[in-house]
This record gives sequence, structure tokens and C-alpha cells, in this order.
Amino acid sequence: MFKSIFSKLIVLFISIIIISFSITGIMLYYMLDRFVYSEKESILKRGGEIISNSLYTYIENSNTNMQLFARQNLESNMEYIMEQTHSYVWIINPQGYIGFAKPETDNQYIPKQLRNKLISDSGIPRLPDEKQYRKVMLSGNDVVEKGDLYGLFQDSRLTIEKPLKMKDESGKEKIVAAVLLTTSMPDVYQLQRSIIGFYLYSVGISILVVIILAYVFSRRISKPLKEINEAARIIAGGEFEKRLNIKSRDEIGELAVSFNNMVDGLQNLEEMRRGFIANVSHELRTPMTSIRGFIEGILDGTIPFERQNNYLAIVRDEVTRMNRLVNDLLDLARMEAGEVKLNLIDFNINELIRRSIIKIESILLSKNINVEAYFEVEELYVNADLDAIERVILNIVHNAVKFTDEGGKIKISAYKKKDKIIIAIEDNGPGISKEEINRIWDRFYKADKSRGRDKSGTGLGLAIVKNIITEHGQEIFVESEPGHGAKFTFTLNKAIDKGIQS
Ligand SMILES: Nc1ncnc2c1ncn2[C@@H]1O[C@H](COP(=O)(O)OP(=O)(O)OP(=O)(O)O)[C@@H](O)[C@H]1O
Ligand SMILES: [Mg+2]
Repeated sequence: MFKSIFSKLIVLFISIIIISFSITGIMLYYMLDRFVYSEKESILKRGGEIISNSLYTYIENSNTNMQLFARQNLESNMEYIMEQTHSYVWIINPQGYIGFAKPETDNQYIPKQLRNKLISDSGIPRLPDEKQYRKVMLSGNDVVEKGDLYGLFQDSRLTIEKPLKMKDESGKEKIVAAVLLTTSMPDVYQLQRSIIGFYLYSVGISILVVIILAYVFSRRISKPLKEINEAARIIAGGEFEKRLNIKSRDEIGELAVSFNNMVDGLQNLEEMRRGFIANVSHELRTPMTSIRGFIEGILDGTIPFERQNNYLAIVRDEVTRMNRLVNDLLDLARMEAGEVKLNLIDFNINELIRRSIIKIESILLSKNINVEAYFEVEELYVNADLDAIERVILNIVHNAVKFTDEGGKIKISAYKKKDKIIIAIEDNGPGISKEEINRIWDRFYKADKSRGRDKSGTGLGLAIVKNIITEHGQEIFVESEPGHGAKFTFTLNKAIDKGIQS
């Protein structure tokens, strides 16, 4: 039910409003009650105290000649308190009879409007309902009543009943009377009710505002999300041209930027995949077409018997090349998948360079290429995978030989620099143009110029080299001045075993 952002926001906002309004409403409701009543209550209690003291004196002196004086004192106190607190002041006995009352009217104790409400028992007015005085008489504590005192009054009042305790002949304490003070209060209930009404009203308005805000806000969030969702669907369908155009500077804007970057990456990957398949097919189809041509020529006799060996030798070379291509591809795939584990050992890199040169001696001789090796020290130990590094050196040197004209020169040097061993292989061939220099590491990349020179390559050599060096955590780079040769330089770690370090 609450799945959309809109409904979630609405629920959240409305809950916040209701909770905060309720808390402040309840606090206000009770604080109002306290402020209005508590002050009045303490004034009435103080008044009650004074009257109850005079009443005590009056009762104490009931049979003495001080009686009249005590009675005058009681009545004047009652009068005084009545005026000061704007209240009715009554003294009631445990049966609810009203003994003294202020104000008096028509020589009767009770104001006119109340007279019909009270019971008149043999001329003495009495509270009609037991509830109106029972509490104070039974508990012996001060009683505070709010409201109309069980139907006695017409208006809302605050009533204080204060008990007067006296000891009887046996010395037991007894409640002999209670002072009742009652004053009209502003109708707090009315006020409270109107506050609730006002609160409900403002909650209603706030909820309305919240719904509008939530709608606007959620649209602002959900619109770009829908756009992203839609774009993701289109891209999943293979259309990599789709981009998001969300300009907001918040998290959604950031998401859109990352999303576009991701699509860029996917598009590149897709282009690489397509290019890769095209390249592999091309590299395989060309030799296969020529192989088929030669075999058909032999079978149908177009190629005379005495030349068959020649053509079969070409077929063999092509098959070898295809075999190498497939192996190189498999090696690259395994390296990129991280399946090839390096077997790191300490070995003398000078020795490896020497052995590599010997391996390609025949080609060097056939092209009359001169190789010069500069070793800083006689033995230079590195920590690396021997076979992999041999492959790197062979690939680079082989390229140098391949692309350098007859009678060219190759210079190989190995030296220490800080905590690294540097190997540099430099030729004086045609070099690599600025536009191509960054692409030579790509799979199947062959510079246009070199295509004319030597078609035998597949363009995988340097991709493998780069992979091996990266896997070692090392660096490789190339510098070239077109027309003046190329220089490949890579780093290796020094040998770990201090004993064999030179
Ligand atoms: N020493 C060099 N001088 C000039 N160009 C070079 C040199 N080394 C590499 N290149 C350029 O870089 C391209 C990529 O080299 P890479 O070794 O990857 O492929 P390749 O030698 O053509 O084929 P493969 O190594 O798979 O037989 C080459 O085709 C060539 O254009
Ligand atoms: Mg090569």
C-alpha cells in the first residue's frame, strides 16, 4: 500500500505533524489547567486556614463570655476572605448543614439563586447531595473540587473544603465541621475545548499543506528516478547511446552522472567486444582462406606437383601463426581473468637478457642487426616470474627486430634506480607516431606503417607484455621520436634475498 515515495512521504509527514501537535496540545491543555487553578487554589486554601482557625476559637469559647467576641471575629474574617477572594464562604457540619455563610442576603445565609437548590431542614439550609461534603468529612483532608459541585452551581467553580478537627471529651480527634470556599472560575473547560478545536483545525490545514508539499517533493524525486529506470531499460536492450539529462545538484544528480559514466564504460566495452570479435574473425579468416586456396590448388592439380612442397610450407607457417594467435588469445584471457599465478623468484636479469638474444640470433643475423647490451653490473638480481619476463623481453626485442630495417641497431640496458631495476630496449627503426603511441598496448592494434613492413604480427604481443608487467605491479612505457626509433622501458623489483643482491 505504501510503496510509492509519495505515500511514504505523506505517512511520514502526517505522523510528524500529529505527534508534534499532540505533544504541544497536551502540554498546553494541562499547563492551562495548572496556571488557572493552582494560584486560585492556594489563595482559597490560605483563606480557609484563617477561617478554620477563627472557627476553632469560636467553638472553644462557645460556653464562655468570649463567645460573642469569637463569633464576631469569625464572621468578620469570613467577610474579609469573601471580599478578597470573591467567593462564597460557608461553614458546614458533618451532616451537610450550613451553619455560617457569607454573603448573607435577606438575613438568610444563602444567596437567592442557590436557595431553591438547598434543602431547608427545619429552617436550616443543607447541602442536597452527600457527595458535596462526604469526602472532606471522611478523609479529614483538604478537598479540591472543580466544576459545578455535583449540580449545586450553574457556573464552573473552584471549591475548597477544609476540615476542622477537634478533640472530644475522650481525647479522640473528630471532624466537627468544614470550611467551604467556592469561587467562580473562567470556564477553563470551554477554553480547553476551543484549544482542541483550534488544534484540530490547524492539524487539518497542515495535513493539507503537507499533502501538497509531499506531492511536489515526491514528484521531484520520482520523476528523475523514473527517467533513470527508463534509461536502464533501454540500455539493457542494447542501446548504448542513451544518456540521462538530469542537472540537479543533489544525490540524484550524482547518481545520474555515475549512471552516464557507467553507460560510457559499457559502451566502450561493447565496442571493444565487437572490435575484438571482428579482429579475431579477420585474423583467422585470412590464413584460413589462403590455406583452403592452397589445398584446393594441390587437390585439383592447379599447383604442379614440384611446387606443392613450397605451398605446403606456407600452409604450415599459416597454421603455426593461427596456433600462436589462439594461444596468445587464451593466455590474454587467462591473464585478464586473473587465472595466471605469478611464480616469483630471484634471478639474474642480465643472464635472461643474454639468453633471449641468443634465442633470436638467427633472425638478428638474417637482418644483420647489431645488438648492444649495457649491464651496469655483472649480475643484477630481480624478483619476478622468470618465464613471463622472458616473454616480455622476447616480445619487445622481437618487435624491435621486426620493425627495424636491415643493418639496424638495438641497445638493451639494465641498471638500478632507487629500489627498482630498469630494463630499457631501444632501436633505431621507424619509431611510433604520436597518434599511435597510446594505442600500441591495445589488443590487435598494429600501427598503419608497420602493416606494410611486417604483416606476420597479430597485434597481441604488447597487450600481453602490458598485462604481465601490470600483474607484477610494475610500470612500462614507451618513448619514440618518429623516424629515429623507439625505446621501451620497464621496471622490476630488486631481488628479495639480500645475499644475491649486487
Ligand atoms: N619497436 C617498434 N618500432 C615501431 N613500432 C613498433 C615497435 N614495437 C611495436 N610497434 C608498433 O606497435 C604495434 C603493436 O605491437 P605488438 O607487439 O602488440 O604487435 P605486433 O608485433 O604487430 O604483433 P605480435 O606481437 O602479436 O606478433 C606494432 O604493430 C607496431 O605498429
Ligand atoms: Mg610484437
